[in-house]
Amino acid sequence: MRKKVTVVGAGNVGASCALWLAQRGICDIVLVDAEIAKTAPVGKSLDLLQAAPIVGYNARIMGTAHGSYEGTENSDVIVITAGFPRKPGMSREDLVSANQGIITDVLSKALDKSPNAYIVVVTNPLDSMTYLAYKLSGLPKHRVMGQAGILDSARMAAFIALEMNVSIENVQTVVLGGHGDEMVPLTRYSTVFGRPITEWLSPEKVTAIVDRTRKGGGEIVNLLGTSAYYAPGAAAARMAEAILLDSKLIVPASAYLEGEFGYSDLYFGVPVKLGAGGVEEILQFPLTDEEKAMADKSVKLIRETMGALKF
Ligand code: NAI
Ligand code: 2OP
Repeated sequence: MRKKVTVVGAGNVGASCALWLAQRGICDIVLVDAEIAKTAPVGKSLDLLQAAPIVGYNARIMGTAHGSYEGTENSDVIVITAGFPRKPGMSREDLVSANQGIITDVLSKALDKSPNAYIVVVTNPLDSMTYLAYKLSGLPKHRVMGQAGILDSARMAAFIALEMNVSIENVQTVVLGGHGDEMVPLTRYSTVFGRPITEWLSPEKVTAIVDRTRKGGGEIVNLLGTSAYYAPGAAAARMAEAILLDSKLIVPASAYLEGEFGYSDLYFGVPVKLGAGGVEEILQFPLTDEEKAMADKSVKLIRETMGALKF
């Protein structure tokens, strides 16, 4: 039986996610947006479908009109990108109240049609919106996760490859923590040809890469006038793919913690194993004092944002 992914929010990130997923050829895709978007998801899905003969993918792609969820039934994964993006000068946290209502609306409608789906949240502020989705849905924690760490790690990898003028294939990076300016890039686990970047690059260069990674979302917002979407869409598609293919892929993602890394009752970016069971495992290892201090700051910021959630 063909797998199905519903992408809710047919805007920049949603459409990009649909395109990356279509190119993988592993599932059919349904694009859904709000009533206000009228027939736009139908138009976007037709456009994507018409690229198939050119690019050579075999996904069935459909969009729904006027906020309808007809056709999303029995989706395996629901990717939620519905919500307002950041504008210049806005933090992800500024988005909390606006996007809370949207997550609430989307979840009930999407789960009504696909009660067994895995939920991948992309909407910002990411960790708080994923927590909200977990609490509102009542689903077990392994079925609700947030995308951030794949993107943040990819940004760091891209900056390292640029700095060292090496193939991106030689670079491995690990960025944990919340999807905010207090994220936790782990330089000792970020390597080129297996050797930590701290041994290849000067401390100043490493610090500059860490800073640019932390501010990577804001950098694009300032240049583009809205937030990034190609890489975020690709990151969400990668999570859906790992679930659909039961890949057992270890990636950093926002997961519900119950004591892991010393934190509880929040969503936080940690290494997870993604497979047919969703978040099948959270992989733990000791943090250094410096990393723990960074993680504490990141947790504090998330808890402040969570404080604005209304249940
Ligand atoms: P966008 O404005 O291009 O698209 C968002 C879409 O959501 C719009 O088409 C809008 O009509 C739709 N929408 C609003 N309310 C809805 C509802 N109740 N039901 C269904 N659809 C609804 O925004 P973009 O750039 O695609 O960003 C989407 C979200 O993803 C934002 O919150 C943004 O901050 C976040 N984001 C998260 C990233 C991450 O790494 N976690 C990275 C980039 C963006
Ligand atoms: C990003 O990191 C704004 O969360 C968005 O690009």
